[in-house]
Formats: sequence, structure tokens, C-alpha cells
Amino acid sequence: MYRLFFVLCLCYGLLGHASSEETTTSVYEHCGNLQLQENIQIKLITGTWYVIEVLQHKTDEKFNGEKFDVPTCPSVFITLAGSDTDLKLYWNEDLGDVEYQFKIRDRTAPGFWTSSGFQNGTLVQVTSYDQFAGMVYVRKAISNHMVLTFCSPNTQLYSVVLARDKTLDPRDLKSIVNHMHLQKLPITQTKRTCRNSASSARATVWMTTAFCLTYLMWYLQQHK
Ligand SMILES: *[C@@H]1O[C@H](CO)[C@@H](O)[C@H](O)[C@H]1NC(C)=O
Repeated sequence: MYRLFFVLCLCYGLLGHASSEETTTSVYEHCGNLQLQENIQIKLITGTWYVIEVLQHKTDEKFNGEKFDVPTCPSVFITLAGSDTDLKLYWNEDLGDVEYQFKIRDRTAPGFWTSSGFQNGTLVQVTSYDQFAGMVYVRKAISNHMVLTFCSPNTQLYSVVLARDKTLDPRDLKSIVNHMHLQKLPITQTKRTCRNSASSARATVWMTTAFCLTYLMWYLQQHK
């Protein structure tokens, strides 16, 4: 009896899982339904940013929801060209650089960018580089962080979490991820970047604390 109940639950779980996967993939692979943040002031998002995480959304077999640190800290520099509707995004990391160009086609939707032309830079010369042709959705843009989703129908679908500093409060990251879960945007891989500086900073704090405590103990012993 128990066994039957268990099998039923298992089947139900698997079915539920399979159907939800199906809806989420098909809805977003064509870039539909990706929400934009309203009232973006494009001038406020220009300048230098750091890449904190790259979240993959494609439900390929090669992505299994794994999370890992990548020992690199890419910076992104966004500039507006003359007309206020042409954007350049310059991505720079140890391995090389790449420059994207985008156009804002509708001034009333400044958070929706369409790629224009090919990317160039040294990263593009790497054989595994796939030229990006598609749209970028500014899904969140506040003073200290921003979320961009890159979508190319049936080809690429990923988000980049950017921050003005090389670190971002874990609570902000959690809220970004929760929001994606709410919108049924699957996260099938998490690449965490710019973590070295944070962990070494944390290590420094620990070392200093440990040193101070040791010193304090020694001092108290001496002055008993
Ligand atoms: C890409 O090409 C433009 C125009 O030729 C050039 O100004 C820019 O520096 C190049 N960017 C990179 C990253 O090589």
C-alpha cells in the first residue's frame, strides 16, 4: 500500500517536473515574455560595471544547474554614442575583450536593445566564440546593480548580473534569483565571477581579527 502511494507520488512529481520544464523553455526561447524594468534612465546605466554572475537559462542537457566560480573578474563599460539610441558595451577580462553594439529602436522602451553588426575584439578570434545576434533586456537597473538578459531566438538565453563594485550583497543576488523563479525562467547554470577579491578581503578580516584576539589575550596575561 505504502509502496503504491510512493510510486504514485514519484510519477506525479516527474510529470509535474516534465511539464513545467516544457512550458518554461518554449516560452522564453523565442525571447517572448521577458519583462523589462520600467522607467530606465539610460544615462544612469552607462560607465563601468563588474560581472558578478552569469546565469544560463537554456535547458540543454549540458547544463545541470551547476554553480561554480570562474577565476576571472570581467568589467563592462557601457557608453552611449551620439544619438542616445546607439549603445556600446565593452567587455574586458584577462582572456581578452569583446565589444558589442546595440540600438534602442523605441525611445519609449530604453531597456530593450537590439544587437547591430558583429562583435569585435580578441575574444571573438577564439574559435568557440558565437557571435551574438539578438536582443538584450534590461530587467533590473538600480544604482548599484543591474541585470541584463541576452536572448537570441532558439540560440542563446542567459543573464548577466552586474554591479558597480566587485561584490554584491548576497541578499540582492537572492532576490534576483527568486524573481527569476517567480517568472519561471529556469536557471540551468551559475557562473560566479569576481569572487577572488571578496574572499581575500574576507580572509584579511579574519586574519586581523585573529591577530587582535591573540594580542588581547597576551596583553591580559601580561597585565594580570
Ligand atoms: C571594434 O572595432 C571598432 C571600429 O573599428 C574599434 O573602434 C574598436 O576599438 C574595436 N573594439 C575592440 C574591442 O577591438
